[in-house]
Amino acid sequence: MKADKLHKTSESKGRGAVQDIVGAISSRRSIRAFLPDQVPQKQIEEILSIASRAPSGTNTQPWKVYVVSGDARLALSQEILTAFMNDEDHQFEFKYYPDEIGEPYLARRRANGWGLYGTIGIVKGDRAKMKVQHGRNYKFFDAPTGLIFTIDRHLEIGSWFDYGMFLQSIMLVARSFGLDTCPQQAFAQYHKIIQRRLSIPKDEMVVCGMALGYADMAAPENSYVTDREPVAGFAKFVDELAQ
Ligand SMILES: Cc1cc2nc3c(=O)[nH]c(=O)nc-3n(C[C@H](O)[C@H](O)[C@H](O)COP(=O)(O)O)c2cc1C
Repeated sequence: MKADKLHKTSESKGRGAVQDIVGAISSRRSIRAFLPDQVPQKQIEEILSIASRAPSGTNTQPWKVYVVSGDARLALSQEILTAFMNDEDHQFEFKYYPDEIGEPYLARRRANGWGLYGTIGIVKGDRAKMKVQHGRNYKFFDAPTGLIFTIDRHLEIGSWFDYGMFLQSIMLVARSFGLDTCPQQAFAQYHKIIQRRLSIPKDEMVVCGMALGYADMAAPENSYVTDREPVAGFAKFVDELAQ
């Protein structure tokens, strides 16, 4: 199927397609409730094919993707969710954050958490509700398609840079097809279950997951739009060099 046809099929659902790159970047956000409408395999292949134009050091293309839908997605989600709800001991294989994240990151992280919880009426101290909401990660927030990303273990930090570009490319191409996403580091904690159920070779490491589908814009959590620092907060225009 050609890309323009794929765009047409998706116009009536979710948030609608955004064709230009600025629009795709500006409209991308983490969506945490999806409609049940399926995303055709052809369209997922098209998204992955376009996203694989992402740059990578010496064109090494370090990404590997497992696309999970239908009964396989439901069964995988159920097994991980059960492990999560029962507090089974599952450990991350790599650290996303340092033990003490410090400022300004801690304040931003808190603002993000409370901003999201605020949309769904979760107040401070309501740990049971927080746990249920976190558990929705493992159902890919009801998206019909879940993506699991892996990387060869022996690759170094440079390939992880490349990976980020590939992930962002997927999220942007998805927007151009009227689809939405949520990148999900939460899955990395349950790598043992994922590795076994998806028959992932031992020399690959689970990087993260991603929900892919049509946004349910009636869901209050999807009304949350995160802040960003102004440019002056993170960029310096240097016109005089130190000696
Ligand atoms: C690599 C990566 C992993 C993430 N993992 C999760 C996750 O497990 N669960 C979740 O709800 N959001 C996750 N997020 C979404 C972030 O919370 C989100 O990107 C951030 O708050 C900024 O909001 P925005 O994506 O709506 O712009 C992840 C984002 C990235 C880039």
